[in-house]
Amino acid sequence: MNPPVLVAGAAIAALSISTVVLAAEDAFVVPAWPYPGNPPSSIAATPPDDATLLRLPDSDQAFTRVQVTDLFAPPDWYPDGHPRMPDVVAYGRKPDVYACGYCHLPDGQGRPENAPLAGLQATYISSQVADFRRGARRSAWRGTYLPTDFMRSSAENATDEEIAAAAGYFSALPMTRRVEVIEAIRIPKTREIGWLYVPIEGGSTEPLGLRIIEVPLDHERHELRDSRMGYRAYVPAGSVERGRDIADNGDGGPDLACASCHGPRLRGIGPVPPLAGRSPTYIVRQLLAFRTGTRATTAGEPMMPVVKQLDVEDMIAAAAYAASLEP
Ligand code: HEC
Ligand code: HEC
Repeated sequence: MNPPVLVAGAAIAALSISTVVLAAEDAFVVPAWPYPGNPPSSIAATPPDDATLLRLPDSDQAFTRVQVTDLFAPPDWYPDGHPRMPDVVAYGRKPDVYACGYCHLPDGQGRPENAPLAGLQATYISSQVADFRRGARRSAWRGTYLPTDFMRSSAENATDEEIAAAAGYFSALPMTRRVEVIEAIRIPKTREIGWLYVPIEGGSTEPLGLRIIEVPLDHERHELRDSRMGYRAYVPAGSVERGRDIADNGDGGPDLACASCHGPRLRGIGPVPPLAGRSPTYIVRQLLAFRTGTRATTAGEPMMPVVKQLDVEDMIAAAAYAASLEP
């Protein structure tokens, strides 16, 4: 893999072109890059192997490929790393409540296409599930974005007791930062697979432009649903510093300052959730959802005047800075 070119000033020309287009049309355009897909060409033609036992370096557990993809009994690689899971987290309930731990992982660390739940307040978790259930939280992407659609379907079918059990469980777990943020101008070429960008082995590079591209450090370990494997987020040069200015000073407009509600170093205060150390593409997807009204919730009303003042470049900067902080 070619190393990315670190901080320099040459991406600016490419950045300002798309910003100008947005301003001229005066209509907010949701970019496609925060929503990588799972094109049919990337799906394996052969059915998964149900005999070979797969392992991870730091785990004494072993699972087959079929077990790893079981929506109703996902792999628990580190059973000693968390308390006993409630049934809804470990197994869900057939036919339509998928195990929360399948997507958010048994220790709640989540993956870039969903969200970490570890360390969120229990009341926040329950209220978000209620928002998904009543359709007040949807994806901003105009096409299909299956991870969010599946979340909605689990929310619609789970009982209040199941949600309370899951909320209590996840809120008691510590969240760890698994993403490293790297400012880059050119990045390795990637392909989309399983709602994720994956570097093409031995491939060439391409300009990052005005995007955040988040990749697993080890794609196989991502596929095995390893919660201890990390990710790398390539962000445009200068994003982290610019994001710090927005978060701390509101970039000149104090009502924008994220830290005034999300707390110093964006670690969350009371019902306002933490942003520190979370997947930056998850953060951008949420900002886009608030901006387009697809996350139109009562609790989210304080975010509405904020996102109106943000263009995509600001969203990228705020997300890059937040992701670079320790939770
Ligand atoms: C099929 C995958 C999947 C399953 C199963 C799933 N979720 Fe989610 N969940 C997601 C995705 C994707 C998102 C992010 C949606 C978005 O971008 O708005 C999400 C978001 C959330 C959030 C919002 C987090 C935040 O920071 O605002 C909560 C809370 C949540 N899920 C709880 C649960 C609970 C509880 C269960 C089990 C009953 C569950 N989820 C099952 C995929 C899933
Ligand atoms: C006036 C207070 C306020 C300000 C300022 C503010 N936020 Fe928020 N934000 C909130 C509240 C409240 C929520 C939780 C909404 C809910 O409960 O659904 C939230 C939620 C979010 C979420 C969703 C988190 C999740 O887990 O899904 C993101 C992302 C976010 N804010 C980013 C930002 C950024 C970036 C800024 C600065 C540019 C910012 N916020 C400024 C109040 C604020």
